[in-house]
Amino acid sequence: MALNDHFLWGSATASYQCEGAWDLDDKAESNWDRYLHVNNLENGDIASDFYHHYEEDIRMLSEGGQNSFRFSLSWPRIISDINGTVNQKGLDFYHKVIDTCLRYDVEPFVTLYHWDLPQYLEDEGGWLNRKTCDAYLHYVEVCFKEFNGKVRYWTTFNEPRWTIFNGYLIGNYCPGHHDAQETTVGAYHIMLAHAMAVNLFREEQIEGKIGIVHSYTPVDGVDDSPETLKAMRYADNYCNNWVLDTAAKGEIPEDLLVALSEKGVDLSFMKEEDLKQIKKARVDFLGLNYYSRALIKPYTEGETTLIINNKGKAAKGSSKTILKGWFEQIKDPSSEYTEWDTEIYPKGLYDGLLRAQQRYGLPMYITENGVGMYEDVSEYVEDDYRISFMNDHINAIMNAVDDGADVRGYFAWSTFDLYSWKNGCEKRYGLVAIDFNDPKLERRTKKSYQWYKKVADSNGACIIRKAY
Ligand code: BG6
Repeated sequence: MALNDHFLWGSATASYQCEGAWDLDDKAESNWDRYLHVNNLENGDIASDFYHHYEEDIRMLSEGGQNSFRFSLSWPRIISDINGTVNQKGLDFYHKVIDTCLRYDVEPFVTLYHWDLPQYLEDEGGWLNRKTCDAYLHYVEVCFKEFNGKVRYWTTFNEPRWTIFNGYLIGNYCPGHHDAQETTVGAYHIMLAHAMAVNLFREEQIEGKIGIVHSYTPVDGVDDSPETLKAMRYADNYCNNWVLDTAAKGEIPEDLLVALSEKGVDLSFMKEEDLKQIKKARVDFLGLNYYSRALIKPYTEGETTLIINNKGKAAKGSSKTILKGWFEQIKDPSSEYTEWDTEIYPKGLYDGLLRAQQRYGLPMYITENGVGMYEDVSEYVEDDYRISFMNDHINAIMNAVDDGADVRGYFAWSTFDLYSWKNGCEKRYGLVAIDFNDPKLERRTKKSYQWYKKVADSNGACIIRKAY
């Protein structure tokens, strides 16, 4: 059986990861520009040069059967300075992108923030400074008014957890800190900024729907013991609930706040008027990015250890997640893992969708799903592993829909090869190959692109169905 005719079949990108043109047309410097330049790391200065290839890229995705394109707006491209000056050239670029989508009957699915913060705000403390919430509100107001009527799907933030935890706790993203207090403050401010944007969207009666995109990590336990269930709750709060409960129910989980206080985090920065904003702001839908689940056991010993493998095969098996006193994440010996230690586990998507359906009862979009691999793009990429990965995850969605989940769209990560943050460009996710050594950055379709067209054209009817 196929999915319904309104289902969005698309793919996704993010401004910093694909646009390039990092200092063109009066774009301000972003936190990622500064961090990667100063540390002399591989950067997105050019990336896939979507800035100059957007027309071709949108045409290609449309020819590939896709009826939606998820992309993000770059805040530093649109707002030039700390005084909030609007850069018309930045707005013009996104008008061109959106108009091209509409010309090809492709629904623009817009992310307002995919981690590229203007450096002038990072200089003032970034997400640790409450003023960043006000600056964000100004930025989103400009975007809402500018693109109202053209964009029908808005999301406030891409993955608050990933950007805040990696930046302030794990330290592998900018600004590269390791501080629980800062992590809590940053997480709170980003969710407050989200709530302020949703409330503004309602007040201004902007057309369309607004949601948030979360790095959804459904939590499983090693057994059903009370200790494991407790550890799972800690893990669920850590991974998911602080974003999803806050966005969908207007509530920051109380037991998480208690647990943070017990860890010595000072919560006095939380203000009553902020909580009222948060309570009022309910999203219309949830955007869920699914890469994997977390398998949890109770905490045994050792200090908090958070290691993410950004080196691929050179560091395979090095990832570790231990939250002292809370939980430990373990590997499932029967599962397959990528070179970057991501478990391939489609059933987690099925389970997660049903849990989220039950808990929030909101429409859901899978806003990212894909597999990062090393690939030789000097010849046609026959990425059967990606086809099999996508087949099994779309199958999981279809199974969840059959069992009552309200899923309305699927976006493959990514539309074409792009810059994969600290993993650089060698970790490829695209349906379209780009040879980053080729000055022309020519686009060439992979086998998965053709396969995905058949899936989209048949509304999923050609997916090989499997039960669990
Ligand atoms: C998501 C992000 O976390 O996963 C993307 O929204 C990111 O920006 C994607 O690229 C894949 O992760 P990575 O680290 O392999 O690039």
